[in-house]
Amino acid sequence: MTDAKRALLVDLAPRWGLDPAGPWTAVELAAGFARSAPLHLDIGVGDGAATRAWAAEHPEASVLAVELHRPGVSTLFAELEADGPDNIRVAMADACEVLAGLDPGSVDHLRVLFPDPWPKRRHVDRRLIDRGFAAAAAAALAPGGTLHVATDWDDYADHMRTMVATEPRLRPQPQPGSDGEGWRSPRPPRPVTAYEQRGLDAGRSVTDLVWIRIEPVEPVEPNGPGPVA
Ligand SMILES: C[S@@+](CC[C@H](N)C(=O)[O-])C[C@H]1O[C@@H](n2cnc3c(N)ncnc32)[C@H](O)[C@@H]1O
Repeated sequence: MTDAKRALLVDLAPRWGLDPAGPWTAVELAAGFARSAPLHLDIGVGDGAATRAWAAEHPEASVLAVELHRPGVSTLFAELEADGPDNIRVAMADACEVLAGLDPGSVDHLRVLFPDPWPKRRHVDRRLIDRGFAAAAAAALAPGGTLHVATDWDDYADHMRTMVATEPRLRPQPQPGSDGEGWRSPRPPRPVTAYEQRGLDAGRSVTDLVWIRIEPVEPVEPNGPGPVA
């Protein structure tokens, strides 16, 4: 990272950043955003261009952007300082730690656009979206809230679908007949992200998947969902 980017990170963190160590309770987040508002959570935002568009579309919400990559966060800080919007705060933290620290039911919408695909078989265990992630997302989401993921790797789309299917509190929201199997969701409005553009340039197609947080009929075991069928 350049010295200029490093300096931006330090200078703008008090304005746009939250303490990477948390805590992530509703009380702390209200203090960080200087207001209480419905919470949108955007995970792995890269340079945050899509996050800024999402926050601009939803001025009524507080948008928490989570990203570990320091150069990306530095770019996002600079863009926010230049042009807002004001309803974003950035956590330069591990998304799994943030998810685990949120108050249950405190998130209205959770989005993960183009998580690292880890396409090699031996690296599949490194993928962000797994059963633990699905359980943590279900716990953080309010009933009626949504989990939205997008990927340009068909194998990861299948993997996501299998992993999230283990979570009884998340119900797929496909578009009937939207594809051959009817399980993909229609693309929600959002800009083409930097990573997505690379996939499109390489000839890959994009899958969006949306689940809605429901109240299951049977109570969920505290130890999480059972094994993958
Ligand atoms: C493939 S990039 C996609 C970036 C952006 N969403 C886009 O579509 O252009 C995935 C991003 O997720 C971030 N990331 C990966 N694991 C993460 C984690 N555990 N917590 C927070 N961010 C993470 C990476 O740093 C990277 O910027």
